[in-house]
Amino acid sequence: MSKPAVLFVCLGNICRSPLAEAAFRIEAERIGLDVAIESAGTGDWHAGEPPDRRAQATALRHGADIGAYRARQVREKDFQRFTHIVALDPRNLAALQALAPAEGRAELSLLLDHVEGRQGLGVADPYYGDEAGFETVWIEVTRAARALAARIAASL
Ligand code: 4NP
Repeated sequence: MSKPAVLFVCLGNICRSPLAEAAFRIEAERIGLDVAIESAGTGDWHAGEPPDRRAQATALRHGADIGAYRARQVREKDFQRFTHIVALDPRNLAALQALAPAEGRAELSLLLDHVEGRQGLGVADPYYGDEAGFETVWIEVTRAARALAARIAASL
């Protein structure tokens, strides 16, 4: 199998998927998994912008500097480039399924499907909430990142 490549996808690519990307980077490093990692949004409103400052602060508290991340929209060639495309909620999974070309190689999944007992659920959008919502996102994406990284490592 070629080197794994994982793309995390939410709506804006400024709150949840950058945190999933950061948590997965930490986990991949911890277990020594050689993997390409990016994030993107199904929407394009925030393309070119850094993550929401509350997401940046949350990541920093957990040892990850995501200030250089820049939002981008998912594109068709992502379905060839990545081995795994992981949606942060069911709505974005449906958007990805609608976008996926027939010849894509990426395995599509929902992030919380990788967490025992949380299958089918979405990570709640913290954009219109307060700081605490970002901490909840961090906890959820970290749990899922651990499970996903272990699963990919076991498949190599
Ligand atoms: P994200 O959060 O999908 O976790 O990045 C959002 C960010 C921006 C918007 C919606 C969700 N927005 O509508 O601008």
